[in-house]
Parts: sequence; C-alpha cells; structure tokens
Amino acid sequence: MLYLVGLGLSYKSDITVRGLEAVRKCSRVYLEHYTSILMAASQEELEEYYGKEIILADREMVETGSDKILHNAENEDVAFLVVGDPFGATTHTDLVLRAKHSNIPVEIIHNASVMNAAGSCGLQLYNFGQTVSMVFFTDNWRPDSWYDKIWENRKIGLHTLVLLDIKVKEQSIENMARGRLIYEPPRYMSISQCCEQLLEVEENRGTKAYTPDTPAVAISRLGSGSQSFKVGTIKELSEYDAGEPLHSLVILGRQCHDLELEYLLEFTDNREKFTNDVRADQEYFKPAPWVPPTEPADE
Ligand SMILES: C[S@@+](CC[C@H](N)C(=O)[O-])C[C@H]1O[C@@H](n2cnc3c(N)ncnc32)[C@H](O)[C@@H]1O
Repeated sequence: MLYLVGLGLSYKSDITVRGLEAVRKCSRVYLEHYTSILMAASQEELEEYYGKEIILADREMVETGSDKILHNAENEDVAFLVVGDPFGATTHTDLVLRAKHSNIPVEIIHNASVMNAAGSCGLQLYNFGQTVSMVFFTDNWRPDSWYDKIWENRKIGLHTLVLLDIKVKEQSIENMARGRLIYEPPRYMSISQCCEQLLEVEENRGTKAYTPDTPAVAISRLGSGSQSFKVGTIKELSEYDAGEPLHSLVILGRQCHDLELEYLLEFTDNREKFTNDVRADQEYFKPAPWVPPTEPADE
C-alpha cells in the first residue's frame, strides 16, 4: 500500500491518529521536501516521534525518480508524507496515478492545509477565487501569468490567495554548469518581496487588476505558535517585516462582507484608514447598477 499522509501545518503532533498509525507500520517513509516545511519539527524530531527513519524526497526524486518511492509497494507499506494536505495547493496526483498504473493500492490520509487554514484571517473561504503562486523573479525570468487570474478574481469580487515561492536544494548556475552537487541554503519568499513583485507587474501591465492601495492580508506561520496576521495596502505590506517563514498573502476582493472586515480590523493599528482603504477599493470593478428594462413604447 502507498499511504499519502498529510502532516498538517506546524507541529509533529499535527499528524492525525490514522496517519500516525499508518506511518508506524510502513517499511519506508518518505517526506516530500520541496513544496513546504513543517515549521515546528525537525527531521530528527519526526523520526523519533514516528520511530522510523525518514528519507527526504526532493523534486527530482518525486517527479522523475518515483519508481524508487513505489518500489515493491504492492507487497509492503510505504508512506509519502506531505506537509499540509497531500492535495492542498501542490497535488501529488502524478504519484497516485503512477501507483495505480502499477496496481499499487493507495490510501490518502488528509490533514489541514494552507488552503483552508487561510480562513483564520477572517475572510470566508467561500469568497475566494483562483489561488496563485508567486515565484522569485530573476534578472531574466519574471513570469506574471498569475496577474490575469488575480484580475479575473477581482472582477467577480473574489479574494485571491497568493502562495509564495520556496527554493530548497537549489544549485547556483555556476555549480550546475560545473556539475557540482553543491546546494544553496533554502530560500523562502517574504510578504514584502511578494508585494514588491506585485507592484512591479501592475506598473508594467497598467490594467489595474489591483493598485498599490488595494487592501491585502499578510499571513505568517499559520498553525504555529507564532502565527500572525497583518492587514494593509499592498504598498504598505511591501515594507512589512513578517519575520520567519512561511508566509502567504490574500488580496481582497470587492465583496468584503462587513463581518469579514470587522475581523480584519483586529489586525491593524489604524482601523479607520483600513476601513476607508477597503471601501475605496470596493469601487473597483463595481458592476453598473441594474436598470429594469423599459416597456417598448406603444406605436
Ligand atoms: C506549495 S504550497 C504547499 C501547501 C501544502 N501542501 C498545504 O496543503 O498546506 C506552499 C506554500 O503555501 C504557503 N504556506 C504553506 N504553509 C503555510 C503556513 N503554515 N503559513 C503561511 N503560509 C503557508 C506558503 O506560501 C508556501 O510557500
């Protein structure tokens, strides 16, 4: 059996009872190690807690070397651990399909994900549109296809969850060119860098999917002891120090319900300014008032 086990967001004990029971009976345990991190537990702590050795699975192993993970899983139990939920944000459908094609039974054990825990900032999950990913810009690679998705969400009034890039086990161009297996330290995008990139792309595109004054919510370290939220405009958050990773951002949609706003006001020192920013932003993409059709005039 291949078990895909969600670990939840932060602590070693966030794993579900069913997940823990599955891990403890597996002969091999892999930890997906490139899309997220368990903030409050190290590999060694997890190993001690599970009573199992953990094999770190980087992108290369999961995407091109999955045969290793699936090896003999039709006869023995193998666990593939994913921080958050196995199907939250990054789905591991490819691995599941490969297992099914090899007649390996698969069991998914779910857990909390950033995709639902983001609701703890007070915005209703029902009012979110497409989630987007913001990658680190480089000198010659500044992808902005997410811009159109934010525009589409905002046009129909919905909030946008922005997930921020993580770079683990990355090689410098020079080391890659020389074939040296030396890896850079992990990098996690911050809220301020994300907001700077948002502002840069808006300036280039100029179609006002959002503006520097659009309100947003900075979400830091969800589910951990130091979880925090901060609201402000995108411009203000481009100067905000959110501290240690992990970070996510929500760009508000036009349909910000009064109850949502009341909750968000807990995360600012200037309630009046933020209320005014939200009200002003709601004018964007506001549909024209509905006008009843007129009766055709009698001839
Ligand atoms: C590719 S997603 C992986 C999601 C994970 N599988 C899950 O279900 O939560 C990783 C990104 O989600 C966001 N994220 C994940 N966990 C987070 C947390 N606890 N607090 C804030 N943001 C988080 C960060 O932007 C991070 O770079």
